[in-house]
Formats: sequence, C-alpha cells, structure tokens
Amino acid sequence: MDLSITVNGITFPNPFLLGSGPPGTNARVIAKSYDAGWGGAVAKTVSLESAKVVNVVPRYGKLRSRTSGEVIGFENIELISDRPIDVWLEEFRQVKKDYPKHILIASIMEEYEKSRWQELTRMVQDTGVDAFELNFSCPHGMTERRMGSEMGEQRQTLRTSKSLRSLLYAAAPWASRLSTRSFR
Ligand SMILES: Cc1cc2nc3c(=O)[nH]c(=O)nc-3n(C[C@H](O)[C@H](O)[C@H](O)COP(=O)(O)O)c2cc1C
Repeated sequence: MDLSITVNGITFPNPFLLGSGPPGTNARVIAKSYDAGWGGAVAKTVSLESAKVVNVVPRYGKLRSRTSGEVIGFENIELISDRPIDVWLEEFRQVKKDYPKHILIASIMEEYEKSRWQELTRMVQDTGVDAFELNFSCPHGMTERRMGSEMGEQRQTLRTSKSLRSLLYAAAPWASRLSTRSFR
C-alpha cells in the first residue's frame, strides 16, 4: 500500500517521522529506524561547539505501570548532541546518499547570535538534508545559555529572531520552526 504523503513540497515515504532526541543520535541509528519502517527522522539537535554540551549520567528513566510493573514509557534529560559538528556533517551526507528517498531533517540550535545561526545553517544545508527544524522550543536546550525553549519563550528574543528566521528561510531550501510551546 502506498502511504506516501507530500508536506510543503517534501514527499515522505509514509507519515511516520521520528522526533529529535535519543532515537536520532547518529547515522547508524537513523539508518536502523529507516530499515524498521520510519519514513523520516529529525536528527538530534546539533550546534557549532559540541564540547560545551556536558551530559549527566544516568539520564534515562523507565516509567512503569503502577499495577503491572510493565514499562509504559521513558523519560530523558539528555541534552542536544555532544558529537562534533564535522562528524555530523559527514553523517548527514552519508545518510542522504544511502537513503535518498527517506526524509532527513536536521535540528539546529545556537546561542542568541545571528552569525552563529547563519554559519550553522550554511554548513548543514550543504550536506543535502531535506529540511531544517529550528530549535526554539526544546527544554533540553541549555536554557542557561539562552538556547532552545529559552529563545522561544522570551518575547523579546523571539521578536529579534524574526529577522533571523527570514534569513534562514532564504538560506535553506525549506525551513520551519516546529515550536510546541506557547509564547509568554
Ligand atoms: C525542537 C526540539 C528539539 C529537540 N532536540 C532534542 C535533542 O537533541 N536531544 C534530546 O534528547 N531531546 C530533544 N528534544 C526532546 C525530545 O524530543 C522529547 O521532547 C522529550 O524526550 C520528551 O518526550 P515527549 O515530547 O514525547 O514527552 C527536542 C525537543 C524539541 C521540541
């Protein structure tokens, strides 16, 4: 059965798309998810300086049913990717080469500085990813550096970032802000 859908000019083999997080941690697991049937994946959020991303251990938790003890969900407090951007650029290229019909969306995040966002956008778009997720909404996004949800929730920051968004639209083949949060 053909389950393909076209959204904003992008044709997905099926409507099942993995969100940005631990399941999109590297090219190997993204490839595995495609092999398992997912139509696309949003990779884990990347930034220019992965060395600034310091994760804690442990950072995953299982949620169990109070009655049966069965695992019914997971929680995670993992930050954005702590893998170097050069490694990611190579992996984005490789994934698109090996899976040209599957959709690969890069999730990008930077500090509140236009030139940093522009630099990251240019680097990533050259790899051939299908779309961008501009991460203005993730609570895992190091709010202490005014990144992620901190950027999306502050009206002043967001107002200034409007001009940033139009720049990104011009730079990227297709860009969208997938914000799940309302603005204060
Ligand atoms: C725009 C955006 C980007 C995200 N990027 C990451 C990420 O890079 N790493 C991560 O562990 N979680 C990331 N998350 C969080 C997870 O995708 C997810 O929201 C979290 O695990 C909670 O799951 P739930 O939304 O299903 O409750 C991101 C969330 C959003 C909204």
